[in-house]
Amino acid sequence: MTTQLIRTAKELHSLPRGGRRAVVMTMGALHEGHATLVREARRLVGPEGQVVVTVFVNPLQFGAGEDLDRYPRTLDADLAIAAEADADFVFAPSVDEVYPGGEPQVRITAGPMGERLEGASRPGHFDGVLTVVGKLLHLTLPDVALFGQKDAQQLALIRRMARDLNFPVDIVGVPTVREGDNLALSSRNRYLSDADRATALELSRALLTAGTSAGKGAASVRRSAMVILDSAARMEPPLRLDYLALVDPSDFTEVPDDYSGEAILAVAAKVGTTRLIDNIPLTVGAAR
Ligand code: PAF
Repeated sequence: MTTQLIRTAKELHSLPRGGRRAVVMTMGALHEGHATLVREARRLVGPEGQVVVTVFVNPLQFGAGEDLDRYPRTLDADLAIAAEADADFVFAPSVDEVYPGGEPQVRITAGPMGERLEGASRPGHFDGVLTVVGKLLHLTLPDVALFGQKDAQQLALIRRMARDLNFPVDIVGVPTVREGDNLALSSRNRYLSDADRATALELSRALLTAGTSAGKGAASVRRSAMVILDSAARMEPPLRLDYLALVDPSDFTEVPDDYSGEAILAVAAKVGTTRLIDNIPLTVGAAR
């Protein structure tokens, strides 16, 4: 399979259209999680459809002091992974191509859901994400766009944006891909030393262990995760917890202790200088 590299919006707009078009948006540094999204995109649109992977490290979604400058840029490897997973096109524009007028003055605002959890820790992050996702949807004009459930709050906000602003696209969530040791795949995992990784594994351990208490209710889920996260805070290097939250998937508000229904258990923490997030979907309280 040859995958064509496209650099400009003009080239992108002149692409022939045949069948349905699926887009997988990424910031590059592709890994098996992205490859899974691309394969699922191909499955959805079939052999006559088109699969477009976008590769763009979006400055608008990085705060001051975050890892914009050191974010991995690996376009040759990305092209090989996209080709292997059966993408037709990789759209990898420059910053000037995406933001020809410099920093955009008009942006998409994520609203209250964008201020919780990740949004509280990274002010403005989701406005930056939704603005670029909105632009990339306009540029690529897909029938379907696929996003990983690992970024659960991002996925919920993109769904909400598509609904609130009438984007004519199906938004599809794809389950998190984990390594053999259960670490959720992330482009940032490459920053972890062996010792960092041993600590980082406590994140998925906390989530998966707490998940087994889902039938006992929300308080039990939170308690069970916190036992593991508290002890990970005493490891070397320590896990520095940003948040653990058991939230309603529709708006990312914390669910009350007597809640019954679908929920997301989400965690964010720093290990060394690397910030990691993870989450699992749960049905809480049903077995009481
Ligand atoms: O999830 C990501 O990689 C990014 O937030 C996205 C959706 C590509 C927007 O820059």
